[in-house]
Amino acid sequence: MNYQINTFEEYLEIYKYSIENPEGFWAEIASNFFWHKKWDKVLEWNFTEPEIKWFLNAKLNITENCLDRHLADGGEKTAIIWEPNNPDENVRKITYKQLYTDVCLFANVLKSNGAKKGDRICIYMPMIPELVIAMLACARIGAIHSVVFGGFSAKSIADRVEDAGCRMLITADGVYRGAKLLNLKGIVDEALINDNLIKKVIVFKNRGINIKMQTERDIWWHDEIEIATTDCKAEIMDSEDMLYILYTSGSTGKPKGVVHTCGGYMVYTAYTFSNVFQYKSNEIFFCTADIGWVTGHSYIVYGPLLSGATCLMFEGIPTYPDSGRLWEIVEKHKVNILYTAPTAIRSLMQAGTEFVRGKDLSSLSKLGSVGEPINEEAWHWYNENIGNSKCPIADTWWQTETGGILISPIAGISPTKPSYAMLPLPGIQPAIVNAQGEELFENNISGDLCIKFPWPGILRTTYNNHERCRTNYFETYKNMYYTGDGCLRDKDGFYRITGRADDVLKVSGHRIGTAEVENAIDLHHKVIESAVVGFPHHIKGQGIYAFVICNNENTDSDKLRTEIIDIVTKEIGSFAKPEKIQFVNGLPKTRSGKIMRRILRKIAEGETENLGDTTTLLDPTIVEEIKTGSLSLA
Ligand code: WT7
Repeated sequence: MNYQINTFEEYLEIYKYSIENPEGFWAEIASNFFWHKKWDKVLEWNFTEPEIKWFLNAKLNITENCLDRHLADGGEKTAIIWEPNNPDENVRKITYKQLYTDVCLFANVLKSNGAKKGDRICIYMPMIPELVIAMLACARIGAIHSVVFGGFSAKSIADRVEDAGCRMLITADGVYRGAKLLNLKGIVDEALINDNLIKKVIVFKNRGINIKMQTERDIWWHDEIEIATTDCKAEIMDSEDMLYILYTSGSTGKPKGVVHTCGGYMVYTAYTFSNVFQYKSNEIFFCTADIGWVTGHSYIVYGPLLSGATCLMFEGIPTYPDSGRLWEIVEKHKVNILYTAPTAIRSLMQAGTEFVRGKDLSSLSKLGSVGEPINEEAWHWYNENIGNSKCPIADTWWQTETGGILISPIAGISPTKPSYAMLPLPGIQPAIVNAQGEELFENNISGDLCIKFPWPGILRTTYNNHERCRTNYFETYKNMYYTGDGCLRDKDGFYRITGRADDVLKVSGHRIGTAEVENAIDLHHKVIESAVVGFPHHIKGQGIYAFVICNNENTDSDKLRTEIIDIVTKEIGSFAKPEKIQFVNGLPKTRSGKIMRRILRKIAEGETENLGDTTTLLDPTIVEEIKTGSLSLA
């Protein structure tokens, strides 16, 4: 049984079975993969420590399942269609056979430069096929990749390299994103100024721009593959060996390294990819995410390749050369499935339907949305203008920590409803709990979203800090994984994710911790204290609003604003820039010194009437002052 879902009745049946017999269910799905040795036991878990293990003692290499396995029947099939940033440049099409060869070749490069099983390798690359090759080459030799999104600053790379203890880094000279040329190698050089861990930096010549190569440390990708062989046996990995680390933001200032392991992640991404999108073998799947985020890991790289799919990878941005670019790509490559983010939909919607008009989107049969709640207006626009009202929309809810999609319609199979993620996938047991930690069993309720039972793609730990994993996800509610999201279940039992209930923001789909932004702002020598909250933004979903207390030397607030924005860009990346900065004389604090963010959020939302109870504040007058000040920013 592969438990592929073909009808809604099947979904209901499979779901029921998956809950009654999760181990039997996942074991049968896992049997469809290539294992060097099968598991002794399907699952061992407790959510207290937490300790979660899937397919115990099974041996595999995920790249054999992504590549080798397809060669006999599908070696000539296109694995990756690469669309360049500049539409006038050449498209690249890479077959499974070619990808296999490229991965083996580069895996040998890694080995000959000293990389081995268990090493952590940082990857900071643009959206080019070599990024996929680099990731799979790591997995081939059992090294753990830690991909850092290309929009992150030097400081962010440095922090991640240090936390993961990386000895090697793979990058490219530079990349065009839209009309902007970015010198990636220059950013890497800056990141490594004080580093003495990284022994090798492998540089892919992408744009031929002028960069500095440090002797001994820096080597060229093209020189290395010249002298490498193409024969590379896959390292045999335990099911629970680490596959990768991906850093993501939480409520504290320091991003955490979410760890996914080989066996469970493989089974989960493949199963969710082929079912949610109902992928059929001749279809072209286009996911617009950046591989630097989990969506790209799971649904550009692993899920599609494990399924033998053809995946389109786009180097550029949706607005270059104009806001019709995504639609042009759909037309040019006859894309069948488009998976994108609400923020992109809203920005293209704002640009106007004239960019869609005249584009032949008739190849599309299924649509997906991911990363943040999709508002009804955007949902309808996507449905009507892009899907021509005939393409089901899968509003897929999941997280970096979940490895793959947990709650989503099955495209074309199960019902949809604008702004609803609808129903849990097989094997997923959601629970909505109230503040007392009690599960609410009835419909028409809302609360915190938890998951009661493990699934193969769940994170196993946060790198080097298991305690953080425990306190973040498994402590708030006993015996449950806490997602950090608020959620409602309507009268029909359909789920709607209402957004983060913690101090995490989703800005243009990018996950940012308010504490990270505050830490950056506080580095400015004139800043005494800051508090950052999100506010509703018509395109970005959320915008960043910073309340900042400065010492009184401050005179030129515009200059200070610019300096603060520069610091945030330098510390995190320009995607984390505050939209609004309000200078204040104090922050609303309780007598114990806790900032009452609830009040700041309301003010940032422009809702100054209903601030709720302010009597517990140390100094209630400060609220009036902040309210007045906020009006002049609006
Ligand atoms: C957070 C996770 C999902 C992979 C990419 C983002 C929000 C994600 C949805 C959705 C409403 C969503 C949640 C979640 N989110 N998808 N379909 N509807 N909210 O992964 O960066 O780890 O962010 O994104 O708040 O907790 P991430």
